[in-house]
Amino acid sequence: MSSFHLPPLPPYPASRPRRLRRDAFTRALVREHTLQASDLILPVFVLDGQNQVQDVASMPGVQRLSLDRLYPVAEECVKLGVPVMALFPVIDTALKTPDGREAGNPDGLVPRAVRALKDRFPGLGLLTDVALDPFTTHGQDGLIDDTGYILNDETLQVLTQQALVQAEAGVDIVAPSDMMDGRIGAIRAVLEERRLVHTRIMAYSAKYASAFYGPFRDAVGSKGNLGKGNKQAYQMDPGNSDEALREVALDIAEGADMVMVKPGMPYLDIVRRVKDQFRVPTFAYQVSGEYAMLKAAAQNGWLDGEASMMEALLAFKRAGADGVLTYFALEAARRLRQA
Ligand code: PBG
Repeated sequence: MSSFHLPPLPPYPASRPRRLRRDAFTRALVREHTLQASDLILPVFVLDGQNQVQDVASMPGVQRLSLDRLYPVAEECVKLGVPVMALFPVIDTALKTPDGREAGNPDGLVPRAVRALKDRFPGLGLLTDVALDPFTTHGQDGLIDDTGYILNDETLQVLTQQALVQAEAGVDIVAPSDMMDGRIGAIRAVLEERRLVHTRIMAYSAKYASAFYGPFRDAVGSKGNLGKGNKQAYQMDPGNSDEALREVALDIAEGADMVMVKPGMPYLDIVRRVKDQFRVPTFAYQVSGEYAMLKAAAQNGWLDGEASMMEALLAFKRAGADGVLTYFALEAARRLRQA
């Protein structure tokens, strides 16, 4: 047996990165990224009617609310410095059609909610989703042909009408989440034609066909409509990364002001690539399934809910996101206020 000797250790480490980790003040001093309330966008589920409150079973702590019940939530956003609320409508089954035409109704739930909220909270930013899934009997984001295939250009007609009624109602940001080709350009052209030059577009540019949207489809009541259907013929394949850059490039060229990657935590590599490549305002959506996972683990006592929430949100910033759409927005903002 050959005798083997480890080389002698130097008397001390050449560098001691732990020096800066020893005390809270140095950790704070050298911290590269931080989370603030102004980084957060709160998605909310809006019901028609008065005095309506429904729990979303798969999203503990999240409720569907009628407008009157939403006002205190908007008020808290303002108080805590959460700059934007994102509205998702829960549409009455009787109003759903194969062509989702209710989406373009100027007196529909979304335009009414926008007008009422802007009236009471003019300083709170509002974002509305542009996609047909809450409005269609089949739960797809667009119109379908006989085979169930989602028609692109025909869908654009309805989407532009939807974006237009939202913009005319006074929404600050329209956010197309439908993944049709050319929708950003089509929407921008219609807005410009109508001289709605201030309406911002946040494009769901890299939106993946993800299993993590399950609880959201419960919340807006599109899950039953979608049934065994999926959105793989328009949302992106989770195996792709270069394709996300191509989608973002197209959306910027077509007139998007901000771009988004969705889902969030499993796609932080995409956030980083998008930010590095384009240097435009980049957002990530921590989706319903991510929220449900963290909540479920916390409720079981398997994770420290608050600590894991704050860590996950900070990770979005570190990955390059300028902001995060998250159901935790108010909880995190309250926590930041205490800190
Ligand atoms: C609708 C839309 C979805 C989400 C946001 N807008 C669902 C989907 O594409 O099926 C998901 C949000 C979430 O899961 O939190 N186009």
